[in-house]
Amino acid sequence: MRCLVTGGAGFIGSHLVARLLQEGDEVRVLDNLRRGTREAPDVHAAGRAVEFIDGDVRDSATLRAAAAGCDRIFHLAAQSNVIGALDDPDYSFTTNVGGTFNVLRCAVDLGVRRVVFTSSREVYGEALYVPVDEDHPLRAKNPYGASKLAGEAYCRTFAHCYGLDVAIVRLANVYGPGDRDRVIPLWLGQAAAGRALEVFGGDQVLDFVWIDTVVGALILAGERGLASPTNIGSGTGTPILELAQRVLDVTGSKAAVVRTAPRNAEVSHFVADVSRMRALGIVPDADPLAHLAELAAVPAPVTR
Ligand SMILES: NC(=O)c1ccc[n+]([C@@H]2O[C@H](COP(=O)([O-])OP(=O)(O)OC[C@H]3O[C@@H](n4cnc5c(N)ncnc54)[C@H](O)[C@@H]3O)[C@@H](O)[C@H]2O)c1
Repeated sequence: MRCLVTGGAGFIGSHLVARLLQEGDEVRVLDNLRRGTREAPDVHAAGRAVEFIDGDVRDSATLRAAAAGCDRIFHLAAQSNVIGALDDPDYSFTTNVGGTFNVLRCAVDLGVRRVVFTSSREVYGEALYVPVDEDHPLRAKNPYGASKLAGEAYCRTFAHCYGLDVAIVRLANVYGPGDRDRVIPLWLGQAAAGRALEVFGGDQVLDFVWIDTVVGALILAGERGLASPTNIGSGTGTPILELAQRVLDVTGSKAAVVRTAPRNAEVSHFVADVSRMRALGIVPDADPLAHLAELAAVPAPVTR
């Protein structure tokens, strides 16, 4: 298979690229390096080169050139977090909505067989009940969630109107090597440096899922397709203060845990109902934080 991975220089994308290469696929990456790096971990792990295109999903001509001859597109390029989208809602709209539209349009025009779209648990907004199944009302509460919801709507309409095969995964909080500026890498770095862990609020309960589970799900979605949007999570809620304690435990740190005002734009309670994902044979770790210790062994730089 020849695959295009948009956002392939980012956290999840670089792991996906490594896995696709291991499976023998030809891989092209389109990334504007806004957050990703050309040296993203594992991209060359399989010892085979990736064709890298430094370009933007908002530029349809570049996108078409990148997608030409590809059987599948894994569309990961995005403004990929809530705070970033709040700070720059224009970028999140043009990239996450306009960029996704461009990817779908280009896929139809070029006869790409399947598109995998990385949506987010943020499309649900604040949970009315947990665990949150895929039929939960979609009540995005910030510009990032809204942009992913709009992206999903375009995926659905392109499938319906143009017969495009689109698989939508709704990812929970993914963690693993190479991530940065999110709670787990930030806290691991701060704990290792003996700096206080800052907790916004403290009542949050979130669903953390290990990168390998997510990459496995993306590969499966690319190979078999998905009949409907599918949550990819652990199915287990982790109270945020428990995460802080686990970070201190695995780093052996005596750093303080300091609670500050909550950030109300972010969803504070989410646990994925993972029945649909399990029915596909994707099994999450029983302990969602099982890999924290191995991650702590290579602490992320303290970036904030
Ligand atoms: N990491 C998570 O916990 C999580 C959770 C839910 C959904 N997602 C989604 O999964 C996908 C990958 O997330 P990630 O954690 O790897 O994020 P990331 O920020 O590490 O990777 C996104 C990549 O997209 C690139 N990019 C941004 N704007 C672009 C543009 N206009 N044109 C081309 N490239 C562009 C960035 O440079 C980056 O390399 C994103 O769509 C994100 O919204 C991630």
